Amino acid sequence: MGGGVKKLIACLHRLSRRVTVSLLAAEIRTDVRSEDIMRKGTKRQYSHEEYNEGTQMDEEGQRVVDYVYTLAKRRKTVRQFTSRPVDENEVITAVKTACQAPSGANAQPWRFIVVTDATRKRNIRKACEDGERAFYATVKGEWRAWLLARGFNWSKPFLEEAPLLLLVFSQENAPYAIPSVWLAIGYLLLVIEERGLGTVTYTPSSSQGVLDEMDIPEGWRLEVILPIGFSAEQHAKEPRRSLDEVLYINSWGHGLDVRK
Ligand SMILES: Cc1cc2nc3c(=O)[nH]c(=O)nc-3n(C[C@H](O)[C@H](O)[C@H](O)COP(=O)(O)O)c2cc1C
Repeated sequence: MGGGVKKLIACLHRLSRRVTVSLLAAEIRTDVRSEDIMRKGTKRQYSHEEYNEGTQMDEEGQRVVDYVYTLAKRRKTVRQFTSRPVDENEVITAVKTACQAPSGANAQPWRFIVVTDATRKRNIRKACEDGERAFYATVKGEWRAWLLARGFNWSKPFLEEAPLLLLVFSQENAPYAIPSVWLAIGYLLLVIEERGLGTVTYTPSSSQGVLDEMDIPEGWRLEVILPIGFSAEQHAKEPRRSLDEVLYINSWGHGLDVRK
C-alpha cells in the first residue's frame, strides 16, 4: 500500500471525529501536494487516552487536513477513460479503506465485485443501456432538461471503456444499509482520487439486468457501478455552493462567519 494511501486511511479515521466548526474555521490551504504528505507522513499512533482527549491542530495535523480537503476539492466525475490499465491493487486498497467506514449496527452491509473481464463488461453495459433506453423514453421536466443540457443519453460507453468496474451492493434488510454503503462509497472516491484515477458514480436506471448477469443473490441491491480508469477528459469541475449557503449555526439560515 502506498504511503499516501496509508496517510489517507489514518486521516479518514481521525477526520470522522475531528471535523467540527473550529476545523471549518481553520485556514485551509489548497496547495498541498500528495508527495509532501507521503514524504513527511505522520507516524503517530494514538493511545485510547490521547484519542479521547482529542488531538491538537499542530502543523502535521493541519497538513493532513489540508490534504484531504485538496483531494476532495480536486475530485471530479470522469466519464471518459483511456485504455491505460489499472493496477487492481489500487482498487483493493480503496475497498479496504471503504470497509473502515461506519455502518448502522456495524452490519457492514456492503459487498464489492471487481470486474475486469471484457465479456462481463460488455454484458453489464448492454443490461444498463436497455434500462437507460426505457428511462430516457419517459423522463420529463427539469430532470430531463438537466440531463439533456449535459449531453447525457442512454449510451454508457464508459462501462466498457474503463479498464475496470467496481460494483457496490447493499444488503436490503440491514439497518441503515443505504446510507452506510454510500458513506463507504465516499471513502472509495477519495482513495481513487488519491491514486490519480477517475470514476463516475453511475447509478443505473434499472439494475435487474446487472443483478441477473452477475448472479447476485436475493436480498442484495446494486447501489453503484464505479468504472475506474485514467481520465481522457478535459473539463472543469462543476461548481459548488458557497459555505454561507449550506452551513448554519444553531438555527436554520443563521450563517457562520467562516473564512472562504
Ligand atoms: C448518488 C449519485 C448518483 C449519480 N448518478 C450518476 C449517474 O447515474 N450517471 C452519471 O453520469 N453521473 C452520476 N453521478 C455524478 C454526478 O452527476 C456528479 O457527481 C455531479 O454532477 C457533480 O459533478 P462532480 O462529481 O464532477 O463534482 C451521480 C452522483 C451521485 C453522488
